[in-house]
Amino acid sequence: MERKGARRERILELLEEHGGLREGVAAAISAETGVPEADVYGVATFYTLVSRPGVGVRICQGLTCKLAGADARAAELQGHGVDHEWVSCLGRCDRAPVALDPELELIPWGARGAISPDDPELPMNLGGADDASYRALARARGIGAAQVIEQLRAAGLQGRGGAGFPAHIKWSAVRGEADPVRYVVVNADESEPGTFKDREILLRRPHLLIEGAAIAAWVVGASIVYVYIRGEFTDARRSLEAALEAAAPHLDGIEIRIVAGHGAYICGEETALLEAIEGRRGMPRLKPPYPTRSGLWGKPTLMNNVETLACVPSILLRGGDWFQSWGRDEPGSKLYCLSGHVARPGVYELPLGVTLDELVEAGGGYVGTPRAFSPGGAASGFLPISERSRPLDMGGLAAAGSMLGSAGVVVLNDTVDMAQAARWQAIFFQDESCGQCAPCRIGCSLQRRSLDRWIDDRDPATLQHVEEIHWEMEEGSICGLGMTASLPLVTAMRHFPEDFRSQR
Ligand SMILES: Cc1cc2nc3c(=O)[nH]c(=O)nc-3n(C[C@H](O)[C@H](O)[C@H](O)COP(=O)(O)O)c2cc1C
Ligand code: SF4
Repeated sequence: MERKGARRERILELLEEHGGLREGVAAAISAETGVPEADVYGVATFYTLVSRPGVGVRICQGLTCKLAGADARAAELQGHGVDHEWVSCLGRCDRAPVALDPELELIPWGARGAISPDDPELPMNLGGADDASYRALARARGIGAAQVIEQLRAAGLQGRGGAGFPAHIKWSAVRGEADPVRYVVVNADESEPGTFKDREILLRRPHLLIEGAAIAAWVVGASIVYVYIRGEFTDARRSLEAALEAAAPHLDGIEIRIVAGHGAYICGEETALLEAIEGRRGMPRLKPPYPTRSGLWGKPTLMNNVETLACVPSILLRGGDWFQSWGRDEPGSKLYCLSGHVARPGVYELPLGVTLDELVEAGGGYVGTPRAFSPGGAASGFLPISERSRPLDMGGLAAAGSMLGSAGVVVLNDTVDMAQAARWQAIFFQDESCGQCAPCRIGCSLQRRSLDRWIDDRDPATLQHVEEIHWEMEEGSICGLGMTASLPLVTAMRHFPEDFRSQR
């Protein structure tokens, strides 16, 4: 049984300090925290960065890295006798192929990714100098919490983490809760394949995030902000830590704490993330209740994505209407992550709702003859290039059976076998499913095996149940991972049937 006053939230930190789950570590942590040893062991085995200490080079097996020749790099390492293992997308698709050394530092194989040019008119302006004046926070205090929320409403700011929920509604909900203890949590877990925009904010404009988070805390009445940052983002974490030091004089009683992730994509899902901070296996909770009512340690919690919060300072300084007018059919500017077969992969801030052609033009043009694209991370599936004029926004992509999601846009040219592309995405979902719902756990494995067998044998019978399995997963999964995990396969079969015929 857990000891009274047990310090469960220390488990993951201590595992890191001990260098991972080595012999005797679970018992030592149990003694120190008061959490049963079996439970400590259960938590540790959930997270790849602490469960497998001593791993050598980590090579990304994400779609973009596979397209960019990760297999050849792995073979080279093998040839030199270097220990290595394949890992899920490392969030640096603009530099593909990507690998991390054992200290989780980037091995500089690829050129640095591009960003949109410095333009002070842009709300985020990744290319500009970071501004640590905290004028927007002062303005928020000047106009009052209700007016801040009103500006967010006028801006039409929708969450940038994937679901697109209106920010002002969440902020009002937490502010309106009766419980006086509330938290703000920043979701900086960014692990969706093809996605690396939050990383650029953390690296280049960390003060935008800190200021946005401080404004959020002030508005909802929270005194502590947790920033849950992806464990593999060592460089981004350093940048955030340095910025936090510089920000301290402006924060006036608001404490911002960094919590590093430990290698589990599912912890980007908001309730799994809360479980991780609390020191548990990162398994999504059943909703409702939503975090706005019962979040971190059961308290009302506002969780927002890094980009969502980084939009807030410019909204307050220039007005909600100004931000709104940036978009086409939907409000605001948007950070698009562009990778795959394009000349200059990178993060581009453009009006929300540009087309693929416009985005790729910003990224220097297509490489080869484009055939397909994935518009919003692995969970958005694939679209044929004939959809290149569709607005890359929530409504536009939903109408095509896809989604903007994390805006991780990957372009594939006509050299790519779409069955293979779907297989790379299926491997990701199988590896990252937390396993608590049977439809997701079993479905991810079945879909991946169907693809393996199709690629090996070209026997159409191996794919005959794909749609039914997809339906079961969509209907029977607790969270978005299981609901969308089959979409790469289903949409590849739907839009590229020629790649699923025995004779191509
Ligand atoms: C499987 C899964 C992974 C997710 N990963 C992230 C993530 O890495 N970052 C993020 O901000 N949101 C992620 N989300 C969405 C969050 O659950 C949540 O909607 C978001 O953090 C809310 O912030 P927003 O309203 O500012 O978008 C994920 C959702 C699911 C289902
Ligand atoms: S759908 Fe998958 S990832 Fe989500 S809770 Fe269920 S098993 Fe876990």
